[in-house]
Amino acid sequence: MEIVSIPTSSIDNKEKIRIIKSEVSRINEVDFNNIAFGKVFADHMFLSEYKDGIWKNHRVQPYGNLSLSPAISALHYGQAVFEGMKAYKDLEGNVKVFRPHDNFIRFNKSAERMCMPQLPEDLFMEALDDLIALDAAWVPAIEGCALYIRPVMFATTAEIKVKSSEEFIFAILTCPVGPYYPEPVKVIVENHYARAMEGGIGFAKAAGNYGAALYPAKLAQDKGYHQLIWTDAKEHKYIEESGTMNIMFIIDGALHTPSLESKTILEGVTRDSVLRLARDLGLEVIERRILVEEVMEGIKTGALTEAFGTGTAATIAQITTIGYKGHDFELPPINNDSLSSVLLNNLNDVRTGKVHDKFGWMKGIS
Ligand code: COI
Repeated sequence: MEIVSIPTSSIDNKEKIRIIKSEVSRINEVDFNNIAFGKVFADHMFLSEYKDGIWKNHRVQPYGNLSLSPAISALHYGQAVFEGMKAYKDLEGNVKVFRPHDNFIRFNKSAERMCMPQLPEDLFMEALDDLIALDAAWVPAIEGCALYIRPVMFATTAEIKVKSSEEFIFAILTCPVGPYYPEPVKVIVENHYARAMEGGIGFAKAAGNYGAALYPAKLAQDKGYHQLIWTDAKEHKYIEESGTMNIMFIIDGALHTPSLESKTILEGVTRDSVLRLARDLGLEVIERRILVEEVMEGIKTGALTEAFGTGTAATIAQITTIGYKGHDFELPPINNDSLSSVLLNNLNDVRTGKVHDKFGWMKGIS
């Protein structure tokens, strides 16, 4: 039997987080009304290093480059996982993070699958608190905008050997962002390449899942689509998810979405939030295997009225067109009464404090 050694981590490591403030803020150089997604970083970042079985040297420091060996195993063997979260300002200007605990749980699930150490919950939460409190001015108070939060862990042992790294860095970066997809999206059903197979790492937010998707996504983008709809790796018959998002359909007034059972799709936090909001609206929610043919047939008969992606970056991205077997299938026009628009408004209202957060999703920064 193969012995797999997953790095362990100290869970009672109470080393304090040091705060090293940037001498000058770059905030006045930023046009918050006109911001490209993921290109502008806030003044500070969080860093912690894993060595000899413990996380240490926790610090918030000015955002900037790191000096690393070109031999680190993250670069060669792809041992890297990440998360995506968002912070918002409520009507009183308080900064709150959307469902950070759920992202923390998924981060550790991804780390386990990639043979990386677990991160102590108190370290994740305190790092988030200290970083966001220091850069609170970077959280936009503009509709449709947020501070995107990117926790990432990567392997830093410098050794040309295929084995789990013994050293890692955990970092958190933040970026003020507007919409990831500024317009409704055109997607194409992928029936050759695959994103994930059963037993693989599809459920994990592993960097390699995104790297492997770039080439098929580029082929789609060259044909004028924004993204793909991934199908199952065995038969390309069932819908999995869209690039960067989970996918949902309104069919005969009910919300249908691929179930998580196969472990080949990402357990989206936005996916779960939208399903709960939909149930709260009284919609029927059905998580199941969805045939591509059934979706195309639904568009033809008119039973399928909406399709949309959900994700932290994308929030809810409405789909206008689905390409399939050389044809473009147009979906009915979207308006303010479309269910996806209602769900998006309801989600944004919770995030910006316009309605009571009855699900307890928003975590204040202390
Ligand atoms: C997110 O939605 O937060 C993602 O991580 C998807 C993509 C931007 C990589």
